[in-house]
Amino acid sequence: MNTPHPANAQNTLESGRFLHPFTDFAEYKQTGGRTYVGGEGIFIIDHQGNRLLDGMSGLWCTNLGYSQASIKTAITAQLERLPFYNSFFNCTTDVTLRLADQLCSALPDGFEHVFFTNSGSEANDTNIRLVHRYFDLIDQPEKKLIIARTNGYHGSTIAGASLGGMKGMHEQMQGLPYVHHVDQPYTFAQLNAHTPEQVGQMAAQSLADKIDALGADQVAAFIAEPIQGAGGVIIPPANYWPLIADICRSRNVLIISDEVICGFGRTGQWWGCQTFGFEPDLITFAKAVTNGYQPLGGAAVSNKIADVLTAGGGEFAHGFTYSGHPVACAAGLATLEIYQSSNLLDEVYDHIAPYWAEALQKLSAHPIIGEVRSQGMLGALELVRSQGTNERIAPDAAAAVYCRNFAIGHGFMVRQVGDSIILSPPLIIQPSEIDQLIKGLWQALDATASAFKLGA
Ligand SMILES: Cc1ncc(COP(=O)(O)O)c(C=O)c1O
Repeated sequence: MNTPHPANAQNTLESGRFLHPFTDFAEYKQTGGRTYVGGEGIFIIDHQGNRLLDGMSGLWCTNLGYSQASIKTAITAQLERLPFYNSFFNCTTDVTLRLADQLCSALPDGFEHVFFTNSGSEANDTNIRLVHRYFDLIDQPEKKLIIARTNGYHGSTIAGASLGGMKGMHEQMQGLPYVHHVDQPYTFAQLNAHTPEQVGQMAAQSLADKIDALGADQVAAFIAEPIQGAGGVIIPPANYWPLIADICRSRNVLIISDEVICGFGRTGQWWGCQTFGFEPDLITFAKAVTNGYQPLGGAAVSNKIADVLTAGGGEFAHGFTYSGHPVACAAGLATLEIYQSSNLLDEVYDHIAPYWAEALQKLSAHPIIGEVRSQGMLGALELVRSQGTNERIAPDAAAAVYCRNFAIGHGFMVRQVGDSIILSPPLIIQPSEIDQLIKGLWQALDATASAFKLGA
């Protein structure tokens, strides 16, 4: 029987049996939520027929929106031809091989191998397996420790959540003992205390200190997102990544660039590591690789690692039933075809991202905005009590929660992290749609200011 929960009486689709990820189940029973039933261009349609401009690209994945006919056609054609075969024990499917080749043509120089998973979390589990295997094979088996960052996000499996630096997740689990965390380069948190350059320098130094304390001969890899996404679109100062790269190289520590959000044009170039000018050893990808239409992720493996892994040493005892799933790979191929045969990424780099940055900056004039930052098609708004400070409006991020709810209630899907509103609109968003979103955000900020009696 499909009886709606009392709190969701208006949502006839909700029976209360589905346990939503990252949801307070008790609160949900009281407040209910939204169920989405349609998508069109960059809009999503909820169970009540409301159309929302999707300022988050689904969950940072539908970079090309909801109406890409060629991806849908590729998926259905693949379902007709070969809906499944596995990639274990020397097998695979033709479309899996084609996607591996195609992806390598889009990866930075020096990346000619990929290992497929179903998600970003599994891809990061895979990265740990690859890193450990690599050092075992080059006779440095004591190099097993992985360093990640406070407030980073790398997924929700045990490995993913251990790598991530999310306090709320760590409190609910027992993390992997060989993962350690260092500082994030969050400049706004240190406003008026340190310059961005100092924040970059200090955060990088915390990595150097941690490696030195643990012993470089024990540390295998450092993993980080080029820009922390789920942590609040935290854009590092320009000096940060070059310092990190030097620290890792000089200590023989591998760099894993988790590009689950930053890949596929999100930061303005194909890969976030290209935007920030560093050369990783492994790249995590997922989400936009299929435009979110099918679950697919993976680890891109640099030649330095792949040369060792493929030179002998026996079987790599790792993989998933659906690694290289042909339907997901067909979606990936069709998605890459759009990125590679259109001038979309150039268009984003040359026109849309600059337009986005300028439009978003207009919000910095709002009295409750302490900082507006953007890079490529990412953005964040820091909500404050008074400009020029980072003093927050209310405890428990209540103002940002209010602002987000107002925006969603008025047709704009945005996300709240702490006291900020974060944004990741589809790369295909048009200037007029950016204008609509900015207008909607301004109204949400006005409503927030007035709800918290800040007199805007
Ligand atoms: C940087 C990063 N890594 C990994 C993941 C985990 O990906 P998934 O949810 O597909 O497991 C995410 C998800 O948002 C992410 O943002």
